[in-house]
Amino acid sequence: MKGIILHGGAGTRLRPLSFSGPKQLVPVANKPVSQWCLEDLVSCGITEISIVLGETFPELVREYYGDGSRFNANITYIYQGRPLGIAQAVGLCREFVSNESFVVYLGDNLLQKGIGKYLEKFSTEDFDAMVLLKEVDDPTRFGVAVFDENKKLIGLVEKPKKPPTNYALVGVYFFKPVVFDIIDELKPSWRGEYEITDAIHTMIKEGFNVGYEIVEGWWLDTGKKDDILQANALILDEQAVQQVEGDLLDSRLEGRVIVKGGAKIVKSTLRGPLIIGENCHIENSFIGPYTSIGNNCRIENSRIEFSVVLEGSFIENVERLDESLIGRYAKVIKNTGKSVKLHIGDYSEVEV
Ligand code: DAU
Repeated sequence: MKGIILHGGAGTRLRPLSFSGPKQLVPVANKPVSQWCLEDLVSCGITEISIVLGETFPELVREYYGDGSRFNANITYIYQGRPLGIAQAVGLCREFVSNESFVVYLGDNLLQKGIGKYLEKFSTEDFDAMVLLKEVDDPTRFGVAVFDENKKLIGLVEKPKKPPTNYALVGVYFFKPVVFDIIDELKPSWRGEYEITDAIHTMIKEGFNVGYEIVEGWWLDTGKKDDILQANALILDEQAVQQVEGDLLDSRLEGRVIVKGGAKIVKSTLRGPLIIGENCHIENSFIGPYTSIGNNCRIENSRIEFSVVLEGSFIENVERLDESLIGRYAKVIKNTGKSVKLHIGDYSEVEV
């Protein structure tokens, strides 16, 4: 069994962060989203993994994951460049996959319980393909399943205006190599992409054995800021433990708080679930809950909750920062006057 992680795409919904790196490297609980995918594959025993790279800073992905040995995986990089569609990206992996079965994991998808149980089902039953589904409130944002009266899967439709059901396609797909022949015959969709949804729909219509499973637990597609914040909160809720490696001076901890080595917490309150990265300096502040602070941040006289702050950022005198996603090496400072002074990147969002 081989694994493919899709690391391309445009990431327009995560601007401005996606101007300086691929969206899948944005961290939740201080770990890139795609690393959660990689670790899920490895924990299922899938160690031969190909990462498909897009045109947004592919070198950062190579730099981070290297040959994979740090993650107990063997990584092969395949360059897609322009995002011509998930099916096109998968099609590039034909040689890598050879004649084995494989899993495709969209590098911005997170599943609470991982894919182990579904992998087992795919491996023991004789499916040509298997999809994962989850009931959602707004199926128009996703690929959507169509069933007959016996709940047999009879079709899939990508981002329908009038969804036939509320069952969305989760971004994890299981295939036998026969899917490559179907991908070869695909035509681009109305949005100009080679859709994996169309490929699987064709397999169903041509009589291939396509199975499905309903995902248990939460599933998130972290394409937007609010999804990142939600994923961060859910993962912290699950994974945070009390673990203090840094120094605490005159400070208070409430709940499950992780303070990494070299961090210095002075006259502050930390409320879990919360993670503070290495070498941070937090002074006279209240941080948490549901917050991740990346390495080397400095926070003074501020209150931050339900937020993700990336490495190297500086926050000073901000009475209350809530539901915020702050990029790397950003500065957020409250000035003493009445005016708001901004120096922000393209497509940034500021609520004052
Ligand atoms: O998250 C689940 C949804 O993912 C499914 O319900 C949809 O059926 C499926 O089409 C997909 O929809 P999205 O609109 O979320 O796809 P997005 O363009 O965000 O791409 C998903 C991931 O695949 C993302 O990590 C980027 C990567 N990608 C995407 C394209 C189009 C590539 O690596 N190459 C590509 O060409």
